[in-house]
Amino acid sequence: MFDSELLFSGAFKNLKGNIIRELYKYTTQPGFISFAGGNPSPQTFPNEILADLSAEVLRNNGVSCLQYGVSNGQMPLRQYVAETMTAEQVPTAVENVVITSGSQQTLDLLAKAVINPGDRILVESPTYVAALKIFSIYGAEVVAVESDDEGIIPQALKEELEKGPVKLIYLIPNFQNPTGITLSLERRKEIMDIVQHYNVIVIEDDPYGKLRYSGEAVPHLKTMDPQGQVVYMGSFSKIIAPGLRVAYAVCDEKIAQKLVLGKQNNDMHTPSLTQLIVYEYCKRGYLEPHIQECCKLYTQKRDTMLNMLDKYFPKEMHWIKPDGGLFLWSKLPEGYSAMKLLDYALPAKVAYVPGDSFFADESGINTMRLNFSTATEEDMEKGLKLLGEQIENYLRDSK
Ligand SMILES: Cc1ncc(COP(=O)(O)O)c(C=O)c1O
Repeated sequence: MFDSELLFSGAFKNLKGNIIRELYKYTTQPGFISFAGGNPSPQTFPNEILADLSAEVLRNNGVSCLQYGVSNGQMPLRQYVAETMTAEQVPTAVENVVITSGSQQTLDLLAKAVINPGDRILVESPTYVAALKIFSIYGAEVVAVESDDEGIIPQALKEELEKGPVKLIYLIPNFQNPTGITLSLERRKEIMDIVQHYNVIVIEDDPYGKLRYSGEAVPHLKTMDPQGQVVYMGSFSKIIAPGLRVAYAVCDEKIAQKLVLGKQNNDMHTPSLTQLIVYEYCKRGYLEPHIQECCKLYTQKRDTMLNMLDKYFPKEMHWIKPDGGLFLWSKLPEGYSAMKLLDYALPAKVAYVPGDSFFADESGINTMRLNFSTATEEDMEKGLKLLGEQIENYLRDSK
């Protein structure tokens, strides 16, 4: 009689788990080397300091961190975010800051606040897979805008905007997930010049921005935003620890109020305990040196991966050097499939993410994302040697 399948919403009936989760059943086997995940290195987690701060916060602020709290977030943390954004040339008042339970929640709240079924959303091609899922859960028509090895192409964005109303443009300008690409200052300026002529919100998702290993910092899109169209999304996940679930949105007050309404009806507020731990961590000056340590470690890992690719990947392969973040994007020659390559790689106990799931239009069959933050240097050499051999086998067998 009871059949839950008949009860699920249309959106959830068709919702599939993402490939990264599906690969877990392989990558958790002993001896498996995985470049598939997207986690920061657990080596970077400041466990001891966080343990001390947790105890202190609980002792000193017991009531405020154990009682229900305000939906927009703990005031000291909002003030801290406002000050740091202002220092980064984005004049910000506390009214512009909403603390969220991860940028993933910011995305969900924003999507819920603006999307009616059928609304058009423009995204880079490829883009963050969870954003694609969130937008489609709310019934949006997600349009992939033509992008190249330097990111989204401003003229292509303009052409899509000309075709009809668009609610959101979703961009990851720094060390993009999955490509690792950083949008140049010129492209940022061009994009902001274009969007100011349209009634559209631009999401600037920036969880990796502070993890830069080479090149110069590029100003946020939000610094070029006279009309308040940009919602800047920052997160402590990649620079302290994702398990804390503390992130923030910096945006126009009217949009901030809608996000807060969304939170009131969702998780009420981000846990005050983790907000206050993050605040104390930042206020006491731990964050900046910690980010420098993270960058040192990840620079080494990125460079090792680049060296190993030079050494072990066949010459037919192409890849993009990232200036920061956690990912490197690689391509097989046209006509080959990174999904098929998994049939070779998984038995050899090495994994990566086939890139097609990051494309709204299901292209990118020959692409793959390699994560360089978690494998040890030794595993990186072993794993990329194995992967290089399997690519050779696949290319040879497919001739
Ligand atoms: C581009 C992008 N946006 C958002 C998130 C989610 O981050 P958070 O842990 O803050 O929810 C991730 C996590 O990997 C990401 O890569």
